[in-house]
Amino acid sequence: MIGLFDSSILGIENLSYVFPGEEKEKSIFQHVSLDVKPGEFVSIIGSSGSGKSTLFRLIAGLLEPTSGQIWINGQLSDKRLGKVGYMPQKDLLLPWRTVIDNVSLPLELTKENKKQKLTEIKEWLSRFGLSGYENAYPHELSGGMKQRVAFLRTMMTGKELLLLDEPFGALDSLTKRNMHSWLLELWGELQKTVLFITHDLEEAILLSDRIYLLPGRNKPFIQEVNVDLPRPRNSELIYQSEFIGMRKELEWLIRDER
Ligand SMILES: Nc1ncnc2c1ncn2[C@@H]1O[C@H](COP(=O)(O)OP(=O)(O)OP(=O)(O)O)[C@@H](O)[C@H]1O
Ligand SMILES: [Mg+2]
Repeated sequence: MIGLFDSSILGIENLSYVFPGEEKEKSIFQHVSLDVKPGEFVSIIGSSGSGKSTLFRLIAGLLEPTSGQIWINGQLSDKRLGKVGYMPQKDLLLPWRTVIDNVSLPLELTKENKKQKLTEIKEWLSRFGLSGYENAYPHELSGGMKQRVAFLRTMMTGKELLLLDEPFGALDSLTKRNMHSWLLELWGELQKTVLFITHDLEEAILLSDRIYLLPGRNKPFIQEVNVDLPRPRNSELIYQSEFIGMRKELEWLIRDER
């Protein structure tokens, strides 16, 4: 079916979700609409428990909407499993597999020839700062490295749309800042579309083209904020006045919600 979100990689219209067995009043969110264009980096901000991870599970096809519609690549999609790359909130690296075997897991699942792709995988490992760690096990890696492995594994699904659920949430502020610099440098090359959940306003502004604020107690509707800061960006941007102004605007919108 062709329609509303022809030029979008992801379109969501009037989405509501109630967990099975819960009363309608306990819906996690109501009337969420959003769209993401190819190549965009879009962040989602919302308080803890506002349903961000649930939204990702709905998009990935692990849950079905109570009402509303989800479009992927311009098509109304009720079979969404396997159509997007999904990095869940908790790092789910397999502890008994090495870095390279964790990263190549999506290829095994789709029965692609891993050997043929090995050169490509090694090149990506190097760009992700993981050269020399191909044969290390997850417990031998730092927190930031584990997150990069999980991110790379999500990329190796080969899907154009990547859903990243707080990928840097558990990292200390210095490591997080390094990850931001790294991701900003890499962003032009990746040629992916990212939907990114975060609690960190600075992170959202620095990385995103647009930000959605999920509905809260006093704000029943989703809000959208454009980040009109030129690219390429680097992490020094946070000290500039446009950035600080943007941050104030976002803080004001969020404070108003509580
Ligand atoms: N399987 C489930 N059954 C019933 N309620 C659930 C279930 N899973 C999550 N919830 C509830 O749904 C709400 C939204 O959870 P979700 O994990 O989507 O929030 P979140 O915005 O990702 O929070 P956080 O920022 O803490 O990660 C929470 O109130 C949670 O208790
Ligand atoms: Mg969550």
